[in-house]
Amino acid sequence: MTMKVLGIESSCDETSAAIVMDGREILSNIVASQVALHSKYGGVVPEIASRKHVEFILPVIDEALARSGNGLKEIDAIAVTQGPGLVGSLLVGISAAKSLAYVLKVPWVGVNHILSHIAAAFLSSPSLKFPLIALVVSGGHTSLFRVESQTRMFLLGQTRDDAAGEAFDKVAKLMGLGYPGGQIIDRLAREGDRKAIPFPRTLLEPHSLDFSFSGLKTAVLQHIKDLGRKLSSIQIREIAASFQEAVVDTLVKKVLRAARREEIKEGVVVGGVACNSRLRERFFEEGNSSGIAVHFPPPALCTDNAAMVAAAGFHRLMEGQRSDLRLNAYSRFSGSHQR
Ligand code: KG4
Ligand code: ZN
Repeated sequence: MTMKVLGIESSCDETSAAIVMDGREILSNIVASQVALHSKYGGVVPEIASRKHVEFILPVIDEALARSGNGLKEIDAIAVTQGPGLVGSLLVGISAAKSLAYVLKVPWVGVNHILSHIAAAFLSSPSLKFPLIALVVSGGHTSLFRVESQTRMFLLGQTRDDAAGEAFDKVAKLMGLGYPGGQIIDRLAREGDRKAIPFPRTLLEPHSLDFSFSGLKTAVLQHIKDLGRKLSSIQIREIAASFQEAVVDTLVKKVLRAARREEIKEGVVVGGVACNSRLRERFFEEGNSSGIAVHFPPPALCTDNAAMVAAAGFHRLMEGQRSDLRLNAYSRFSGSHQR
Protein backbone atom coordinates (compact mmCIF):
# COMPACT_ATOMS: atom_id res chain seq x y z
CA MET A 1 0.00 0.00 0.00
CA THR A 2 1.26 3.47 -0.80
CA MET A 3 0.71 6.69 1.09
CA LYS A 4 0.36 10.03 -0.69
CA VAL A 5 1.02 12.91 1.67
CA LEU A 6 0.09 16.51 0.91
CA GLY A 7 2.76 18.77 2.47
CA ILE A 8 2.06 22.44 3.24
CA GLU A 9 4.71 25.06 4.11
CA SER A 10 4.06 28.73 4.97
CA SER A 11 6.51 29.58 7.75
CA CYS A 12 8.21 32.57 6.15
CA ASP A 13 8.01 34.08 2.66
CA GLU A 14 7.38 30.99 0.55
CA THR A 15 3.94 29.43 0.09
CA SER A 16 4.45 25.82 -0.90
CA ALA A 17 2.46 22.61 -1.39
CA ALA A 18 3.76 19.21 -2.48
CA ILE A 19 2.57 15.65 -2.96
CA VAL A 20 5.10 13.02 -1.89
CA MET A 21 4.56 9.27 -2.09
CA ASP A 22 5.81 7.09 0.79
CA GLY A 23 8.18 9.81 2.00
CA ARG A 24 10.41 9.15 -1.02
CA GLU A 25 8.97 10.06 -4.38
CA ILE A 26 8.15 13.71 -5.12
CA LEU A 27 5.07 13.82 -7.37
CA SER A 28 4.91 17.62 -7.28
CA ASN A 29 6.51 20.46 -5.30
CA ILE A 30 5.11 23.95 -6.00
CA VAL A 31 6.73 27.02 -4.43
CA ALA A 32 5.28 30.54 -4.72
CA SER A 33 8.02 32.89 -3.56
CA GLN A 34 7.31 36.36 -2.18
CA VAL A 35 10.97 37.41 -2.30
CA ALA A 36 10.37 40.13 -4.90
CA LEU A 37 7.62 41.67 -2.73
CA HIS A 38 9.80 41.88 0.36
CA SER A 39 13.12 42.82 -1.24
CA LYS A 40 12.29 46.52 -1.46
CA TYR A 41 11.97 46.56 2.35
CA GLY A 42 15.32 44.76 2.81
CA GLY A 43 13.73 41.82 4.64
CA VAL A 44 10.50 39.92 5.21
CA VAL A 45 7.56 42.08 6.37
CA PRO A 46 5.38 39.69 8.47
CA GLU A 47 2.06 41.41 7.76
CA ILE A 48 2.63 41.36 4.00
CA ALA A 49 3.79 37.74 4.19
CA SER A 50 0.64 36.45 5.92
CA ARG A 51 -1.66 38.34 3.52
CA LYS A 52 0.17 36.86 0.53
CA HIS A 53 -0.03 33.36 2.01
CA VAL A 54 -3.81 33.78 2.25
CA GLU A 55 -3.86 34.74 -1.42
CA PHE A 56 -1.52 31.98 -2.62
CA ILE A 57 -2.35 28.97 -0.46
CA LEU A 58 -5.35 27.49 -2.34
CA PRO A 59 -3.99 28.05 -5.88
CA VAL A 60 -0.66 26.52 -4.78
CA ILE A 61 -2.40 23.43 -3.33
CA ASP A 62 -4.53 23.13 -6.51
CA GLU A 63 -1.40 23.35 -8.64
CA ALA A 64 0.41 20.71 -6.57
CA LEU A 65 -2.55 18.34 -6.96
CA ALA A 66 -2.84 19.01 -10.70
CA ARG A 67 0.88 18.54 -11.39
CA SER A 68 0.90 15.27 -9.45
CA GLY A 69 -2.09 14.00 -11.44
CA ASN A 70 -4.16 13.53 -8.28
CA GLY A 71 -7.39 14.92 -6.93
CA LEU A 72 -8.09 15.65 -3.26
CA LYS A 73 -9.68 12.20 -2.93
CA GLU A 74 -6.33 10.53 -3.62
CA ILE A 75 -4.63 12.25 -0.65
CA ASP A 76 -4.06 9.82 2.24
CA ALA A 77 -2.64 12.25 4.81
CA ILE A 78 -1.50 15.84 5.34
CA ALA A 79 1.64 17.32 6.92
CA VAL A 80 2.00 21.00 7.71
CA THR A 81 4.72 23.23 9.18
CA GLN A 82 3.76 24.09 12.76
CA GLY A 83 6.80 26.26 13.67
CA PRO A 84 9.19 27.88 14.17
CA GLY A 85 8.38 30.82 11.91
CA LEU A 86 6.12 33.83 11.59
CA VAL A 87 2.97 32.95 13.51
CA GLY A 88 0.59 34.82 11.18
CA SER A 89 2.10 33.02 8.19
CA LEU A 90 2.16 29.60 9.84
CA LEU A 91 -1.53 29.92 10.75
CA VAL A 92 -2.47 30.18 7.07
CA GLY A 93 -0.91 26.80 6.25
CA ILE A 94 -2.20 25.25 9.47
CA SER A 95 -5.77 26.44 8.82
CA ALA A 96 -5.66 25.00 5.30
CA ALA A 97 -4.34 21.68 6.64
CA LYS A 98 -6.96 21.49 9.39
CA SER A 99 -9.85 22.27 7.04
CA LEU A 100 -8.73 19.79 4.40
CA ALA A 101 -8.04 17.04 6.91
CA TYR A 102 -11.46 17.61 8.50
CA VAL A 103 -13.33 17.52 5.20
CA LEU A 104 -11.35 14.61 3.73
CA LYS A 105 -11.31 12.69 7.05
CA VAL A 106 -7.60 11.92 6.69
CA PRO A 107 -4.89 11.88 9.38
CA TRP A 108 -2.60 14.90 9.61
CA VAL A 109 0.43 16.02 11.56
CA GLY A 110 2.18 19.31 12.37
CA VAL A 111 5.96 19.18 11.87
CA ASN A 112 8.90 21.26 13.02
CA HIS A 113 10.32 23.39 10.19
CA ILE A 114 13.97 22.88 11.14
CA LEU A 115 13.60 19.11 11.35
CA SER A 116 11.74 19.04 8.04
CA HIS A 117 14.78 20.72 6.40
CA ILE A 118 16.67 17.56 7.47
CA ALA A 119 14.01 15.39 5.78
CA ALA A 120 15.04 17.00 2.46
CA ALA A 121 18.22 14.96 2.75
CA PHE A 122 16.25 11.68 3.04
CA LEU A 123 14.44 12.62 -0.18
CA SER A 124 17.59 13.36 -2.16
CA SER A 125 19.88 10.69 -0.63
CA PRO A 126 17.62 7.72 0.23
CA SER A 127 20.53 5.43 1.11
CA LEU A 128 21.80 7.58 4.01
CA LYS A 129 23.01 5.54 6.97
CA PHE A 130 22.19 6.47 10.57
CA PRO A 131 23.48 7.93 12.79
CA LEU A 132 24.48 11.08 10.96
CA ILE A 133 25.29 14.71 11.67
CA ALA A 134 22.92 17.30 10.21
CA LEU A 135 23.71 20.99 9.85
CA VAL A 136 20.65 23.17 9.21
CA VAL A 137 21.76 26.57 7.88
CA SER A 138 19.08 28.98 6.78
CA GLY A 139 17.94 32.57 7.12
CA GLY A 140 16.44 31.87 10.52
CA HIS A 141 18.48 28.95 11.88
CA THR A 142 21.94 27.51 12.33
CA SER A 143 21.64 24.24 14.21
CA LEU A 144 23.62 21.02 14.47
CA PHE A 145 21.89 17.71 15.16
CA ARG A 146 22.78 14.11 15.80
CA VAL A 147 20.22 12.21 13.69
CA GLU A 148 19.50 8.64 14.75
CA SER A 149 16.52 7.91 12.53
CA GLN A 150 14.04 9.75 10.33
CA THR A 151 12.31 10.98 13.48
CA ARG A 152 14.89 10.90 16.30
CA MET A 153 17.10 13.99 16.28
CA PHE A 154 19.13 15.54 19.09
CA LEU A 155 20.24 19.15 19.11
CA LEU A 156 24.05 19.39 19.58
CA GLY A 157 24.49 23.12 19.11
CA GLN A 158 22.94 26.23 17.63
CA THR A 159 23.64 29.89 17.01
CA ARG A 160 23.80 32.17 20.02
CA ASP A 161 22.96 35.23 17.92
CA ASP A 162 22.53 35.58 14.15
CA ALA A 163 21.78 32.68 11.83
CA ALA A 164 24.31 32.09 9.03
CA GLY A 165 21.84 33.16 6.32
CA GLU A 166 20.93 36.23 8.35
CA ALA A 167 24.64 37.18 8.43
CA PHE A 168 24.79 36.83 4.62
CA ASP A 169 21.68 39.00 4.30
CA LYS A 170 22.95 41.68 6.71
CA VAL A 171 26.41 41.89 5.13
CA ALA A 172 24.85 42.21 1.67
CA LYS A 173 22.67 45.00 3.03
CA LEU A 174 25.72 46.79 4.52
CA MET A 175 27.22 46.86 1.03
CA GLY A 176 23.90 47.92 -0.55
CA LEU A 177 23.65 44.71 -2.59
CA GLY A 178 19.95 43.85 -2.09
CA TYR A 179 17.92 41.10 -0.42
CA PRO A 180 18.24 38.16 0.08
CA GLY A 181 22.00 38.48 0.20
CA GLY A 182 23.24 34.87 0.21
CA GLN A 183 23.02 34.23 -3.50
CA ILE A 184 24.42 37.68 -4.39
CA ILE A 185 27.45 37.27 -2.08
CA ASP A 186 28.00 33.72 -3.38
CA ARG A 187 28.19 35.07 -6.94
CA LEU A 188 30.42 38.09 -6.18
CA ALA A 189 32.74 36.02 -3.97
CA ARG A 190 33.72 33.91 -6.99
CA GLU A 191 35.52 36.97 -8.37
CA GLY A 192 37.12 38.10 -5.09
CA ASP A 193 40.25 37.18 -3.12
CA ARG A 194 39.04 35.21 -0.10
CA LYS A 195 42.32 35.83 1.74
CA ALA A 196 42.16 39.61 1.24
CA ILE A 197 40.71 40.44 4.68
CA PRO A 198 41.33 38.29 7.78
CA PHE A 199 37.81 38.44 9.25
CA PRO A 200 37.40 36.64 12.61
CA ARG A 201 36.28 32.99 12.90
CA THR A 202 34.30 32.62 16.11
CA LEU A 203 34.70 29.06 17.34
CA LEU A 204 33.68 29.75 20.97
CA GLU A 205 34.88 27.35 23.70
CA PRO A 206 37.13 24.45 22.53
CA HIS A 207 34.35 21.86 22.77
CA SER A 208 31.42 24.05 21.89
CA LEU A 209 29.17 23.11 18.99
CA ASP A 210 27.36 26.45 19.16
CA PHE A 211 27.81 29.23 16.61
CA SER A 212 28.09 33.01 16.75
CA PHE A 213 28.11 35.31 13.74
CA SER A 214 27.50 38.74 15.27
CA GLY A 215 31.24 39.44 15.82
CA LEU A 216 31.93 38.69 12.16
CA LYS A 217 29.10 40.97 11.07
CA THR A 218 30.48 43.78 13.26
CA ALA A 219 33.99 43.23 11.85
CA VAL A 220 32.62 43.62 8.32
CA LEU A 221 30.79 46.78 9.35
CA GLN A 222 33.97 48.19 10.94
CA HIS A 223 36.03 47.31 7.87
CA ILE A 224 33.57 49.13 5.61
CA LYS A 225 33.61 52.18 7.94
CA ASP A 226 37.43 52.19 7.98
CA LEU A 227 37.51 52.26 4.19
CA GLY A 228 35.47 55.42 4.59
CA ARG A 229 34.25 55.96 1.02
CA LYS A 230 32.10 54.33 -1.64
CA LEU A 231 33.27 50.75 -2.08
CA SER A 232 34.90 49.88 -5.40
CA SER A 233 33.75 46.75 -7.18
CA ILE A 234 37.06 45.03 -6.27
CA GLN A 235 36.55 45.91 -2.59
CA ILE A 236 32.97 44.58 -2.67
CA ARG A 237 34.22 41.30 -4.14
CA GLU A 238 37.05 41.05 -1.59
CA ILE A 239 34.69 41.66 1.32
CA ALA A 240 32.15 39.16 -0.08
CA ALA A 241 34.81 36.46 -0.60
CA SER A 242 36.59 37.03 2.74
CA PHE A 243 33.32 37.17 4.70
CA GLN A 244 31.97 34.05 2.99
CA GLU A 245 35.22 32.18 3.69
CA ALA A 246 34.96 33.05 7.40
CA VAL A 247 31.37 31.70 7.58
CA VAL A 248 32.23 28.58 5.59
CA ASP A 249 35.36 27.91 7.71
CA THR A 250 33.31 28.04 10.90
CA LEU A 251 30.53 25.80 9.55
CA VAL A 252 32.99 23.20 8.23
CA LYS A 253 35.01 23.16 11.47
CA LYS A 254 31.93 22.71 13.65
CA VAL A 255 30.50 19.87 11.56
CA LEU A 256 33.85 18.05 11.59
CA ARG A 257 34.15 18.68 15.34
CA ALA A 258 30.65 17.24 15.88
CA ALA A 259 31.40 14.23 13.65
CA ARG A 260 34.60 13.46 15.57
CA ARG A 261 32.94 13.89 18.96
CA GLU A 262 29.95 11.73 18.05
CA GLU A 263 32.13 9.23 16.11
CA ILE A 264 30.00 9.62 13.00
CA LYS A 265 31.25 9.37 9.41
CA GLU A 266 28.30 10.77 7.50
CA GLY A 267 26.67 14.20 7.41
CA VAL A 268 24.06 16.28 5.63
CA VAL A 269 23.92 20.04 5.14
CA VAL A 270 20.46 21.52 4.48
CA GLY A 271 18.60 24.87 4.50
CA GLY A 272 18.96 27.88 2.18
CA VAL A 273 22.66 28.49 2.92
CA ALA A 274 23.38 24.90 1.79
CA CYS A 275 22.94 26.31 -1.75
CA ASN A 276 26.26 28.13 -1.27
CA SER A 277 28.79 26.97 -3.84
CA ARG A 278 31.90 27.55 -1.69
CA LEU A 279 30.30 25.68 1.24
CA ARG A 280 29.64 22.69 -1.03
CA GLU A 281 33.20 22.82 -2.42
CA ARG A 282 34.84 23.03 1.03
CA PHE A 283 32.75 20.22 2.52
CA PHE A 284 33.59 18.07 -0.45
CA GLU A 285 37.36 18.71 -0.06
CA GLU A 286 37.55 18.51 3.74
CA GLY A 287 35.09 15.66 3.97
CA ASN A 288 37.25 13.66 1.59
CA SER A 289 40.44 14.34 3.52
CA SER A 290 38.88 13.57 6.91
CA GLY A 291 36.90 10.51 5.77
CA ILE A 292 33.49 12.08 6.41
CA ALA A 293 30.95 11.95 3.57
CA VAL A 294 28.81 15.08 3.49
CA HIS A 295 25.64 15.14 1.36
CA PHE A 296 23.76 18.18 0.08
CA PRO A 297 20.21 18.10 -1.35
CA PRO A 298 19.77 19.91 -4.69
CA PRO A 299 19.16 23.68 -4.21
CA ALA A 300 15.38 23.43 -4.74
CA LEU A 301 15.15 21.12 -1.72
CA CYS A 302 17.52 23.27 0.39
CA THR A 303 15.38 26.41 0.37
CA ASP A 304 11.90 26.33 1.93
CA ASN A 305 9.60 23.86 0.17
CA ALA A 306 6.70 21.57 1.05
CA ALA A 307 8.21 18.30 -0.26
CA MET A 308 10.47 18.20 2.80
CA VAL A 309 7.43 18.83 5.02
CA ALA A 310 5.52 15.94 3.39
CA ALA A 311 8.55 13.65 3.83
CA ALA A 312 9.03 14.64 7.48
CA GLY A 313 5.29 14.17 8.06
CA PHE A 314 5.23 10.75 6.39
CA HIS A 315 7.83 9.31 8.79
CA ARG A 316 5.98 10.74 11.80
CA LEU A 317 2.60 9.50 10.57
CA MET A 318 4.10 6.02 10.09
CA GLU A 319 5.03 6.10 13.79
CA GLY A 320 1.44 6.90 14.68
CA GLN A 321 1.87 10.62 15.38
CA ARG A 322 -1.35 12.57 14.78
CA SER A 323 -2.41 16.17 15.36
CA ASP A 324 -5.89 17.36 16.21
CA LEU A 325 -7.80 20.60 15.73
CA ARG A 326 -6.32 22.11 18.92
CA LEU A 327 -2.86 22.34 17.29
CA ASN A 328 -1.42 25.87 17.32
CA ALA A 329 1.53 27.56 15.62
CA TYR A 330 4.72 28.39 17.55
CA SER A 331 7.29 31.02 16.65
CA ARG A 332 10.43 29.66 18.32
CA PHE A 333 12.26 26.36 18.40
CA SER A 334 12.03 24.77 21.81
CA GLY A 335 12.75 21.33 23.16
CA SER A 336 9.15 20.72 24.11
CA HIS A 337 8.08 21.19 20.51
CA GLN A 338 10.82 18.99 19.10
CA ARG A 339 8.97 16.47 16.94
O1 KG4 B 1 15.89 27.87 4.13
P1 KG4 B 1 15.56 29.22 3.60
O2 KG4 B 1 14.94 29.30 2.23
O3 KG4 B 1 14.58 29.98 4.56
C1 KG4 B 1 14.64 29.93 5.96
O4 KG4 B 1 14.08 28.96 6.55
O5 KG4 B 1 15.27 30.86 6.50
O6 KG4 B 1 16.90 30.09 3.66
C2 KG4 B 1 17.00 31.41 3.18
C3 KG4 B 1 18.41 31.92 3.47
C4 KG4 B 1 18.59 33.41 3.19
O7 KG4 B 1 19.23 34.01 4.31
C5 KG4 B 1 19.51 33.44 1.97
O8 KG4 B 1 20.36 34.58 1.93
C6 KG4 B 1 20.30 32.16 2.15
O9 KG4 B 1 19.37 31.22 2.63
N1 KG4 B 1 20.89 31.67 0.90
C7 KG4 B 1 22.23 31.59 0.67
C8 KG4 B 1 22.39 31.16 -0.67
N2 KG4 B 1 21.15 30.97 -1.21
C9 KG4 B 1 20.24 31.29 -0.24
N3 KG4 B 1 23.26 31.84 1.49
C10 KG4 B 1 24.50 31.69 0.97
N4 KG4 B 1 24.74 31.28 -0.30
C11 KG4 B 1 23.73 31.00 -1.15
N5 KG4 B 1 23.98 30.61 -2.40
ZN1 ZN C 1 13.67 27.12 6.21
